[in-house]
Amino acid sequence: MSEVRYDGKTVIVTGGGGSLGRAYCLLFASRGANVVVNDLGGSYTGEGASQSAADKVVEEIKAAGGNAIASYESVSEMDSAEKTIKAGIDAFGRVDILINNAGILRDKSFAKMEEDDWDKIMEVHMKGAFCMTKACWPHFREQSYGRVIMTASAAGIYGNFGQANYSAAKLGLFGMGQTLALEGKKYNINVNTIAPVARSRMTETVMPPPLLEKLRPEAVAPLVGWLCSEESKESGSLFEVGAGRFFKLGWQRNGGFATANDDGVASLEELRDNWSDVADMSDAKPVRNIQDSTMEFMKPIKKKS
Ligand SMILES: NC(=O)c1ccc[n+]([C@@H]2O[C@H](COP(=O)([O-])OP(=O)(O)OC[C@H]3O[C@@H](n4cnc5c(N)ncnc54)[C@H](O)[C@@H]3O)[C@@H](O)[C@H]2O)c1
Repeated sequence: MSEVRYDGKTVIVTGGGGSLGRAYCLLFASRGANVVVNDLGGSYTGEGASQSAADKVVEEIKAAGGNAIASYESVSEMDSAEKTIKAGIDAFGRVDILINNAGILRDKSFAKMEEDDWDKIMEVHMKGAFCMTKACWPHFREQSYGRVIMTASAAGIYGNFGQANYSAAKLGLFGMGQTLALEGKKYNINVNTIAPVARSRMTETVMPPPLLEKLRPEAVAPLVGWLCSEESKESGSLFEVGAGRFFKLGWQRNGGFATANDDGVASLEELRDNWSDVADMSDAKPVRNIQDSTMEFMKPIKKKS
């Protein structure tokens, strides 16, 4: 069986000193990649900074015979993102793979959420992924090669009590990734989004220990590794991953309801009386892309006889 390898490739893992980030760094390094371990090293709510988070992972990689450097820059500003990319290029000559993984939490019910809780989450997750991807993008385009991972969350896909800020940012990353997958296609830049489940300081406080034990961060890494391999053609997809399971998610739309009125404007009462057709998902089918979505609005409406 041939090995999946990344010899000569440089991967940047943001939040690489944390639970999932470390697992990604170790897997990439063990398969020949040069790794930039980027981590600000603050608390899980985004306070403070420390070099030790990134340093520890770099030491681990080097001790196992791999190549790695540390970056202690925050992902959230354009100039610090540029510095991280430049560090990778200076050390290894190129950048090929970006794992947008850095993250923090500011959980609070919406009633108690402050503006700062919203801003901090957007800054690290959304702006962070924007700055890091933006800094990599010209290099990826120029070399006609790039692999990007966005990290979403079940909280964004399904909603979760106390995580309005985090949910918004996490599903926002999926939206950004979907557009980048389209824009990157002709440059061989693949962009995919994952919603992982793994034990970390983020989940330790909300999940029971027996469950946490099963949720090894190493179990998420193979999906990230495969999606970022040269062989993989997957792009513009969303996956749930954890505990050895790998699932792809997609949008579905039902048959819906179309007004019988010639001017195409339904009355409130017509909508009320046909609500079961609008809401019932039993006949739902996959919608693959924006063309699929838009086509449906262009079709002539069949009048009920
Ligand atoms: N663990 C899970 O079950 C789970 C579920 C869904 C999503 N996620 C997401 O996975 C990612 C990794 O989370 P984790 O569980 O490994 O948590 P973690 O706290 O162990 O790792 C996150 C890392 O990001 C770093 N970081 C934070 N802000 C940064 C910044 N501005 N610049 C650079 N680095 C920064 C932290 O120092 C930390 O090391 C996060 O985006 C998180 O939201 C995790």
